[in-house]
Amino acid sequence: MRHNEPLEFDVLIIGSGAAGLSLALRMPPEVSVALVAKRELTEGNTLYAQGGISAVLDARDSIDSHVADTLAAGAGLCDEEIVRMVVEHGPGNIRWLFEEGVEFTRTPQTGDSGYHLTREGGHSHRRVVHAADATGHAVETTLVRRLDGHPNVNVFEHHIAVDLATAERPVAGRSQRSCHGAYLLNIPSGRVIAVAARNVVLATGGASKVYLYTSNPDVATGDGIAMAWRAGCRIANMEFIQFHPTCLYHPEAKSFLISEAVRGEGGRLLLPDGTRFMAAFDERGELAPRDIVARAIDHEMKRLGIDCVYLDISHKPAAEIERLFPTIHQRCLELGFDMRKEPLPVVPAAHYTCGGVKTDREARTDLDGLYAIGETAYTGLHGANRMASNSLLECLVFSEVARTDILQRLAQQAHDPLPSIAPWDESRVTDSDEEVVVSHNWDELRRFMWDYVGIVRSNKRLQRARRRVNLLRHEINEYYGNFRVSNDLLELRNLVDVADLIIQSAQRRRESRGLHYNIDFPDRDDNQATPTVLIPDSYVPRQSTD
Ligand code: FAD
Ligand code: SIN
Repeated sequence: MRHNEPLEFDVLIIGSGAAGLSLALRMPPEVSVALVAKRELTEGNTLYAQGGISAVLDARDSIDSHVADTLAAGAGLCDEEIVRMVVEHGPGNIRWLFEEGVEFTRTPQTGDSGYHLTREGGHSHRRVVHAADATGHAVETTLVRRLDGHPNVNVFEHHIAVDLATAERPVAGRSQRSCHGAYLLNIPSGRVIAVAARNVVLATGGASKVYLYTSNPDVATGDGIAMAWRAGCRIANMEFIQFHPTCLYHPEAKSFLISEAVRGEGGRLLLPDGTRFMAAFDERGELAPRDIVARAIDHEMKRLGIDCVYLDISHKPAAEIERLFPTIHQRCLELGFDMRKEPLPVVPAAHYTCGGVKTDREARTDLDGLYAIGETAYTGLHGANRMASNSLLECLVFSEVARTDILQRLAQQAHDPLPSIAPWDESRVTDSDEEVVVSHNWDELRRFMWDYVGIVRSNKRLQRARRRVNLLRHEINEYYGNFRVSNDLLELRNLVDVADLIIQSAQRRRESRGLHYNIDFPDRDDNQATPTVLIPDSYVPRQSTD
């Protein structure tokens, strides 16, 4: 699509996963919206989500139980008020998705809602609504189709946001930092454009590509977190990176996920000799929260010097496996495994970023006019470990609350002119002569993050990682200052910033809790039961506008 300049919108949404799309669709027709994606609209973590979305939809379940399970998984670091707010908004958001046309799997016998409810780690009830084993695909593609009915949403595919446009001005005698738009690189043309907006929303997803092995697609490079940090926002809880216990172990699989719902429906974890091992680590066995299962697998792999463990559901009827897991079954068959008849080789991989841009209950960040929703945000919901299927729920609920706040803000801004944004300055840069620097540094970064800042950490490993990330950051910033920007360079720059935030946060937490395990501080210390909040040099405390 061609866009006429100057580009000015009421709302600029950067990211078109579950969070960004649902916010765009929820905007009334009189509000002009720009929706930006750095690849096709559909590409992002949402498209690959398998297990489902958690919500209280059965009379035997309760809001209190969902809240209690989330708090338990979060290992003492969740914000209980936020947890309750999100859980209470769950059923309404599932209804909204249904009204938008998302077809969830139905089985009238189980659950009063008519939906089949599956189970995953940490949940004490069946409460995960799903579309077979491809829930994210159903959500993403349905919501993208729904954009057709929204002429006020202007789509910018293949545009990567480079940085936010910010300003500092006095409000009530004190300085206030605000956001007025963003610079976007049109990837095919190589041109950078400035987009002005009254409200800017980061919905850019997670950062798991900072690790060598991940369940995430290539776009998950933490761009929103890095941009917000550079713009002056506080970033919280970055040490809590979730490793999913069961990604298929196969050279061609590129970390294909085997849903936790496979364990929820009775799948067993086995050592190569067929022994079950999870009971030795947790009484909940295979359905313990993910941090415990991933660490147990890592422990057994290191203890026995093995490349993977096995996940076996072949004791269940073949027809049930085919019905509940058609996508996983098909992909495994293509790779030579028949899950109806044999165990699947699995390993842990980086999966979810629990920390992110610190927001309040309305999804507002530290910058006036800047919001963050979805995986890029830290809302307080997940604490030290996210419970399965709570992420898509968070995307939906925070798009709903952000919508309300943005509409109130727009009503107040009706007659304010939009501040102008300086055009992008390319006068001092040339075309890159050494792209190899970018690809080499990508590989190096992802490898040392896996080796030194992975499932099990130590003070020494974190120090090593810190030294390396500092060198890389210096090199990349120099490169950024001298050469024209490209997609790969921007993603690498963001990954290096995010790696640094993860390492700094991990070094600050001198205990082990939830997803953060440090062999030098192996115990939980309840004197440290507070989030890790990193504050950038450019941070200016926000003035209350309530
Ligand atoms: P995403 O869906 O990742 O979308 C990010 C968007 O931001 C994309 O459009 C991307 O192009 C855009 N973007 C990023 N950076 C830029 C930039 N600089 N400029 C422009 N655009 C940018 N959670 C559950 O609750 N249930 C599940 O069953 C589940 N299964 C999962 C399975 C897999 C394999 C994976 C990887 C994750 C799973 N998760 C699940 C987690 C969940 O899918 C994600 O947390 C959630 O989808 C994130 O949605 P989002 O909208 O925040 O981001
Ligand atoms: C899965 O299906 O195992 C992923 C669920 C999640 O990440 O919430």
